[in-house]
Amino acid sequence: MTELEFYNNPKFHHVQHPLIEHKLAILREKDTNTKQFAELAEEIAMLLTYEATKDLPLEETWIDTPLEKAKCYTVSGKAVGIVPILRAGLGMVSGVQKLIPNAKVGHIGLYRDHETCEPVEYYCKLPADAEQRILLVVDPMLATGGSASDAISMIKKRGVTKIKLCCLVSAPEGIRRVLADHPDVDLYVAAVDRQLNEHCYILPGLGDAGDRLFGTK
Ligand code: PRP
Ligand code: URA
Repeated sequence: MTELEFYNNPKFHHVQHPLIEHKLAILREKDTNTKQFAELAEEIAMLLTYEATKDLPLEETWIDTPLEKAKCYTVSGKAVGIVPILRAGLGMVSGVQKLIPNAKVGHIGLYRDHETCEPVEYYCKLPADAEQRILLVVDPMLATGGSASDAISMIKKRGVTKIKLCCLVSAPEGIRRVLADHPDVDLYVAAVDRQLNEHCYILPGLGDAGDRLFGTK
């Protein structure tokens, strides 16, 4: 895999860790049930968030320990926003919130047209102060990259400049599309799969993430 050209792009981050590999294996398994699928998506989202927030700005603060004052550092409560791409992105929100409980949450509604694989926009609501925040856009699947690229464009149109995208499973096509359309955006993925099939599903992938999360099939 590492011969793929985007591994040389500093904006691309394939987050590799034994825990992520283990959780992904169970997530992909076709007999994994809805409850377990949702728990794993949350957990992998949390591990991706750890990596994606490595460069968050810190503020100096003085804390009274039981013994003396200590110089400490905190992340500004206003630093982060989370933007799931509906529906399946909702499955990653709680994982991010476990690490950043005060992050505000926006929503972007996009679905893929089954014939064309093109994203269709139906909703966008961001935090009022979104342009002051680093927005973590979350979606489990990065297939053609159309949905993620359009979502990022929608966010940029509203004045946001600091955007990171976190996905659980990605295809090379989607990675190339996002890096080409949005060279300023950092992309974090837990898995880089082989290819897309004729219906733009990721192979080997995990099937339809929204249906597996919400039990709709
Ligand atoms: C899935 C997934 C992404 C998109 C990825 O959503 O959650 O948003 O497809 O595909 P792309 O990279 O080719 O755009 P879907 O359209 O199935 O909607 P859903 O989450 O409501 O099920
Ligand atoms: N959306 C999904 O849910 N799965 C895929 O494989 C591709 C897009």
